[in-house]
Amino acid sequence: MCGIVGYIGERKEVKSILFNGLSKLEYRGYDSAGISILKNGNIITKKAVGKLVNLEKEIINTDMKGFLGIGHTRWATHGKPSVENSHPHLSTNNDITLVHNGIIENYDILKAALIKKGHKFLSQTDTEVIVHLIEDAYEGDIFEAVKKILPLLDGAYAIGVFTKNEPNKLIAARKGSPLVIGVGKNENFIASDIPAILEHTKDAIFLNDGEIAILTKNSVEIFDLNGDKTEKNIKHIEWSLEAAEKGGYDHFMIKEIHEQDRVINDTLRGKVFEDNVKIDEITMSDEELQNIHKIHIVACGTSWHAGLVGKYILEQELRIPVEVEVASEFRYKNPIISNKDLVILISQSGETADTLAGLREAKSKGAKTLGILNVVGSTISREADGTIYTNAGPEIGVASTKAFVSQLIALYILMLFLGEKKNILSKERRKYIISELKLLSKKVKTILNNEKNIEKIAKLFENVNSTMFIGRNINAPIALEGALKLKEISYIHAEGYPSGELKHGPIALIHENFPTVAIATKSHTYEKVKNNVEEIKARSGTIITIASEGDEKIQDISDAVLYVPDTEELFSPVINVIPLQILSYYVAKSRGLDVDKPRNLAKSVTVE
Ligand code: F6R
Repeated sequence: MCGIVGYIGERKEVKSILFNGLSKLEYRGYDSAGISILKNGNIITKKAVGKLVNLEKEIINTDMKGFLGIGHTRWATHGKPSVENSHPHLSTNNDITLVHNGIIENYDILKAALIKKGHKFLSQTDTEVIVHLIEDAYEGDIFEAVKKILPLLDGAYAIGVFTKNEPNKLIAARKGSPLVIGVGKNENFIASDIPAILEHTKDAIFLNDGEIAILTKNSVEIFDLNGDKTEKNIKHIEWSLEAAEKGGYDHFMIKEIHEQDRVINDTLRGKVFEDNVKIDEITMSDEELQNIHKIHIVACGTSWHAGLVGKYILEQELRIPVEVEVASEFRYKNPIISNKDLVILISQSGETADTLAGLREAKSKGAKTLGILNVVGSTISREADGTIYTNAGPEIGVASTKAFVSQLIALYILMLFLGEKKNILSKERRKYIISELKLLSKKVKTILNNEKNIEKIAKLFENVNSTMFIGRNINAPIALEGALKLKEISYIHAEGYPSGELKHGPIALIHENFPTVAIATKSHTYEKVKNNVEEIKARSGTIITIASEGDEKIQDISDAVLYVPDTEELFSPVINVIPLQILSYYVAKSRGLDVDKPRNLAKSVTVE
């Protein structure tokens, strides 16, 4: 996700202004950090791998007084966490320096052309091409050079850039990644997020996609990509620092739930094109991929639920057998695996002890291994044969939400990738799946906009001790996930069941004060789930249904209905999990619980 900051003004302590700004953005990434400052006409750059304290050690005794600077805290996407891959990145002649948040999808083509022209690249990042493109286009006006090259970039960016040749200008631009300008007195700021500027000013301008800003110490001018000036309003920020860190939300969990429409696009970005996918971090040969005849998915908790959905996705589309195992079981069961098997490890942190042990077990038996991971450079990413990064950005709430959705998206991408490599999916089918994937972000947004309604429904859980979630087929794992989310943050006992199992035991639990959440969206088993809902209603159970928009009949047998946009069954888990996350959040919140840090739980379980 990355965080960027920038300063232009008349205070000499630019180093600490940038550093303090970065410390407020560390939640956006902590793989490495760096700053560039203009001092006596020269750009001084310092970088360090790991948390910000390491950068602090680098700069503490360095004289970096100046009036202009930029800084960056990195969440690695292209290239491992290292000093070379840390931002800021400099042009070949060291005249221009740049920080970037986002992903440049066509960087490899641009890079090849720049290398031919004599540009020297020092990193494996996608970002470095931007500063070289600017250098290539520079004819004495940094704003003109930036404006000229931005249309060449496919993907997302928020950038801060300056040159030693124009010491009175800081340039910023955005498309797809956030950027705010802090308007001060004889000083101005840029940042990825408000917390980084709040200490200095409460007046902000939010840059829109396709806008470029020229900042001097006492002016901010904004232009579109044609160079036409745009008038923007200054917004006065009322938030406290604490509220700003959570984006104005009460908890990180709900903030992260609200990021999910963006996360879907971030996971797709750079990997999914019109009718094909590209995954740079899978290094297996085509022959090895073609030889895969069985897949095992190994994971824990929420990531295991993503794996269970993955089984449906992969088996339905590719007709390859998939086994899904809880990692703590897999590692001790002496699993039957051959060198024609692919073992997929799903993990947000990439550090979970059992999942890591599963990876080592699979490797020792000669299987190929692939991580679906959120943290670049994590132990599993270093040991697996390949990785699909989910690009959800750091997840701070202990209960996983956006990481889960990004794992599902990664599984669709993997299905497309294998389908192409193994000649199973036609070009038309791939094109169709990709077009449907691209619609998901907007559909998720409509559910997020319906939050108030879900909050009201959470009141049905006020005096409840126990509850059940049911779903079928590809949505059976979503019932498990709904139950896990509720129990881990609200401490209400919750069971998840494939709804066809109801008659085989759990229906005995039903009574008036026992709510059941039923996932009853359009599917080939819709009628079956509806029958289960009727059975619960007939026994006076409280029923909350997740239903497809337009299904009015379901209201007759439900106490409350949460409508979600219509989606093909294959993609419905992405849509259906969102109201369940929001529901759990509001149930826990109404009980006054510490939603972000539920009792007895840790974000990363690195012990057995
Ligand atoms: C639940 C949750 C956990 C994790 C599990 C695996 O909300 O977050 O169940 O999913 O501990 O963690 P990772 O994905 O980091 O391996």
